[in-house]
Amino acid sequence: MAENSIDSLLQEHRRFPPSEQFAAQSVASPNLSSEARADRLEFWATQARECLDWHSPFTEVLDWSNAPFARWFADGTLNVAYNCLDRHVLAGRGDRVAFHWEGEPGDSRTITYAELTTEVKRAANALASLGIGQGDRVAIYMPVVPEAVVAMLAVARLGAVHSVVFGGFSAESLRSRIEDAQAKLVITADGGWRKGKVFPLKPVVDAALESGAESVEHVLVVRRGENPVAWADARDLWWHDTVGSASPEHEAEGFEAENPLFILYTSGTTGKPKGILHTSGGYLTQAAFTHRNVFDLHPESDVYWCTADVGWITGHSYVVYGPLANGATQVLYEGTPDSPHPGRWWELIEKYRVSIFYTAPTAIRSFMKLGREIPDGFDLSSIRVLGSVGEPINPEAWIWYHDVIGAGTAPIVDTWWQTETGAIMIAALPGQTTLKPGSAQVPIPGVTIDILGEDGTRVDPPHGGLLVVSEPWPSMLRGIWGDPERFKETYWSRFSTPEKARYFAGDGAHVDEDGDIWLLGRVDDVMNISGHRLSTTEIESALVSHPMVAEAAVVGAADEQTGQAVVAFVILRAEFAGDMTPDEASAALRAHVATAIGAIARPRQVFVVAELPKTRSGKIMRRLLQDVAEGRAIGDTTTLADTSVMQIITTNVTG
Ligand code: WT7
Repeated sequence: MAENSIDSLLQEHRRFPPSEQFAAQSVASPNLSSEARADRLEFWATQARECLDWHSPFTEVLDWSNAPFARWFADGTLNVAYNCLDRHVLAGRGDRVAFHWEGEPGDSRTITYAELTTEVKRAANALASLGIGQGDRVAIYMPVVPEAVVAMLAVARLGAVHSVVFGGFSAESLRSRIEDAQAKLVITADGGWRKGKVFPLKPVVDAALESGAESVEHVLVVRRGENPVAWADARDLWWHDTVGSASPEHEAEGFEAENPLFILYTSGTTGKPKGILHTSGGYLTQAAFTHRNVFDLHPESDVYWCTADVGWITGHSYVVYGPLANGATQVLYEGTPDSPHPGRWWELIEKYRVSIFYTAPTAIRSFMKLGREIPDGFDLSSIRVLGSVGEPINPEAWIWYHDVIGAGTAPIVDTWWQTETGAIMIAALPGQTTLKPGSAQVPIPGVTIDILGEDGTRVDPPHGGLLVVSEPWPSMLRGIWGDPERFKETYWSRFSTPEKARYFAGDGAHVDEDGDIWLLGRVDDVMNISGHRLSTTEIESALVSHPMVAEAAVVGAADEQTGQAVVAFVILRAEFAGDMTPDEASAALRAHVATAIGAIARPRQVFVVAELPKTRSGKIMRRLLQDVAEGRAIGDTTTLADTSVMQIITTNVTG
């Protein structure tokens, strides 16, 4: 699943050419690619002018003289929130619905562009009155409610920087992100709805701020869950008081194109998450351009729904910035796909006549398992484009998605990108590209991708290699917050030469004879669990922070449902080894990881073992543990310091 093998990919020969009817009205035209090939920078300059309104125009497209630190459209100024809001209202589209929001318990709100604009203006005034201005960092820890979007746009409107932390992360994870960014303000809610219950958020913020995080001056709280919350009078404010009483007049100021827009933390190969920094003009250009062309958006008639939480990059680029810059009408849903019944998503598609639907393979596979009777019970005839993101979509899931959700006609766009790339980099263009199930296909116009061997030379089909972006792109990350050295080292050291800086993505890939790209999964110690990135080292650190644990090793094991699942092997300290049964210890440690990082990191299994396989230099051989976790025959053990270790582990694991 997450780990594709070239051999199995080469078996996939099904092809789906675009229908003439679709091609005739598609947004993307064949000219895009030829224009981009003719002059890449001029192409992006055109997109920046066509997709966005500038307070003052740019004259320079790209400054790459200080690579890998890029500056796009640097002498232009714009306001990101104005581009997502005011300009639509000023053009007479204020009555268009921005969001059909649906709460999990069944409450709903319809918000037009005019209403959203007014709300963001109020919120911007409220934030300004709390001392937030250009460059200040604001942490946002929210459920998927309209106020989460309003908060992000209000921060952007002031030229400040948001750091959205997914509502499933623990107090410790939240605290370390607040501290790293030195946030002055936290915006949260009392709680949100998930799986039929309110999950508390404000109490987690309180715990995060209990020790450390001294940069925080105020906590602004949206009332949503109605759950009881503690209150620090000098620090805490209700959103409905503070924003509700603020003026609805606010003029958007233009900021430099390179003004920071947001920081979003993501896991790397070391224990500490990286604060990925994105800026304004280039980011918004590529988010808007790809949203329009990859999803074939006709903003006046489409209803678009991306199921991502705003806490992830997909929520930033394809719920907030891309769609709103394009004036799209969206569905926004607070809860889980199966609450209160397993047809909830299909019910929403029927209710709002969703025409473009964007979700992750893990969700598709879970619906597949439940059977097609459930979606077949709803009218999904409004669907005309389907999208996939987060991990490779296996051909069986692709075909099911195409047939059952897309009535056998809707094109599927499999979109490859990353938190770091900011926007889609590889995808089919509906109406243009002949689709191949399982392949992300082609770089979008204006993006240059190469598949290189370890030695940096290009590999030829059908061999696999490492995915590299060879030219800078507008929505590229501008750095890791506070750590320029790590930025250079992580992404730019491996394949750059003195003449040319090249971005290393961390993914393996293979290119076929037609030039279509097939992703093969991560090549580093990063796991992909349900389309979310987790680092093995980060979870190992969480495990060894438990007093009972002497040593820990974590691997991502293939999982039918989630793509990969976290599997841990731990050695207990001698003094604790007799206190609990292995099952009890395993349960306690699974819970410990969930508390330390968040429920998404909870291991599927924790095996208590007597030894870990190590090389003579002391490096843990995760590859062998992965064989155990996936129930395979153990691979080559010749480099092990002690070859009997695997025998001991297998006995421990199988009991
Ligand atoms: C990693 C990035 C970008 C939004 C979601 C994840 C994997 C993502 C695909 C795809 C194959 C994919 C890659 C990438 N990935 N989309 N369509 N096909 N792999 O963002 O958490 O930054 O993770 O997700 O391995 O490097 P992220």
